[in-house]
Amino acid sequence: MIQVAQWYPKVGEVSVEYSYSVRNLLLAMASTTSQSSTPNPPTRVLVTGGAGFIGGNFIHSLLTESEAQVANLDLLTYAGNRATLAGIEDNPRYRFAQGDIADPELVERLLDDFHPDAIVNFAAESHVDRSIDGPKAFIDTNIVGSYNLLDRALSFWRSLDPARQARFRFLHVSTDEVYGSLGDQGAFTEQTPYAPSSPYSASKAASDHLVQAWHHTYGLPTLTTNCSNNYGPYQYPEKLIPLVILNALAGQPLPIYGNGGNVRDWLFVQDHCRAIWHVLQHGSPGQMYNVGGNSERTNLEVVDTLCALLDELLPNSRHLPHAQLKTFVTDRPGHDWRYAINASKLRDELGWQPRETFESGLRRTVQWYLDHLDWCETVRAGSYTGQRLGLRHGAS
Ligand SMILES: NC(=O)c1ccc[n+]([C@@H]2O[C@H](COP(=O)([O-])OP(=O)(O)OC[C@H]3O[C@@H](n4cnc5c(N)ncnc54)[C@H](O)[C@@H]3O)[C@@H](O)[C@H]2O)c1
Repeated sequence: MIQVAQWYPKVGEVSVEYSYSVRNLLLAMASTTSQSSTPNPPTRVLVTGGAGFIGGNFIHSLLTESEAQVANLDLLTYAGNRATLAGIEDNPRYRFAQGDIADPELVERLLDDFHPDAIVNFAAESHVDRSIDGPKAFIDTNIVGSYNLLDRALSFWRSLDPARQARFRFLHVSTDEVYGSLGDQGAFTEQTPYAPSSPYSASKAASDHLVQAWHHTYGLPTLTTNCSNNYGPYQYPEKLIPLVILNALAGQPLPIYGNGGNVRDWLFVQDHCRAIWHVLQHGSPGQMYNVGGNSERTNLEVVDTLCALLDELLPNSRHLPHAQLKTFVTDRPGHDWRYAINASKLRDELGWQPRETFESGLRRTVQWYLDHLDWCETVRAGSYTGQRLGLRHGAS
């Protein structure tokens, strides 16, 4: 059963009134600026999927680096954990609602109560291997849920006065996987045709198309970001980097799909969060922006770098050298060979660049996991304990 679990302070009590002078100022700005940039940062941000990896990091950043009020709508699937937000649940600028982005009444009520000037949609089923085992949840959340959010957002946006309409943004967080697989050369640009190959990437591609349609057909001021692989604090331990760290600590095999040669571009999660905040403020409605770290690595290189870092940080480990735990396993069905992102549009038009290199970001990540084993235990206390996923070929 899905319900609004907890709101504090009571959302109806939050004032969304603008003073007469501020309102006039915004109206004046709206009439003299194009929609290509918002005059001020968003002040009321509805985040969906904020108990997950990237959404959780984004909320932490918003509360420390902006003045924004934040509402978080999250279904708390296996991938969503209140523990990720434990330190901020009492923050008066933060409130949480448990529920499904595919629930029209719930989303409508949240929009009417909270009155956001931005929605950032992180909520998704996000693991390729799980999409192979059971695609339906990916259709339900990534496609139907995104449709519902767009539909309710459009009604809400249409109800706003012109100044607030001009400020409003709907930012959809997507992935480079929608572009399909590359050979050894080239990189995805925003003009690369979509060619998704897994149920996960196909469902994300469908949602991206819906977002574009809601802009072109109805004028909803949308933004889409397509980002490469993220890593960093609070990533659920089924994904490569945290899985390798935790398995290495336990002396368990470090699984490497196929020959380990598949290439991904890697971006530190907090750089991704900065990019999203930057695009929200400066992006042009209707546009898509590729986000990447300019850090292509084979999976084998990633695992080797992690093993070297763990050897250095844990000199008394019983499992030295950790590289002895590397184990090649059956490849993922339909495994995309290479992804690479050309993020020059975001850099040249909007002035965003990542701050972390892969080496500095990975060192911070390993140290974070070593310092937060309690968080790992909490989130793993659910059903997932590191077993291989993605070989059931669509059984649902
Ligand atoms: N992780 C990456 O490397 C990466 C890279 C690029 C883009 N993305 C995209 O970024 C977004 C966030 O990814 P992530 O890695 O943080 O995912 P995640 O799986 O860690 O978190 C997803 C969150 O969404 C919530 N959720 C799932 N279904 C929901 C529903 N129906 N209603 C409300 N909440 C729901 C979950 O409870 C969870 O908190 C996704 O859209 C993903 O496609 C991820």
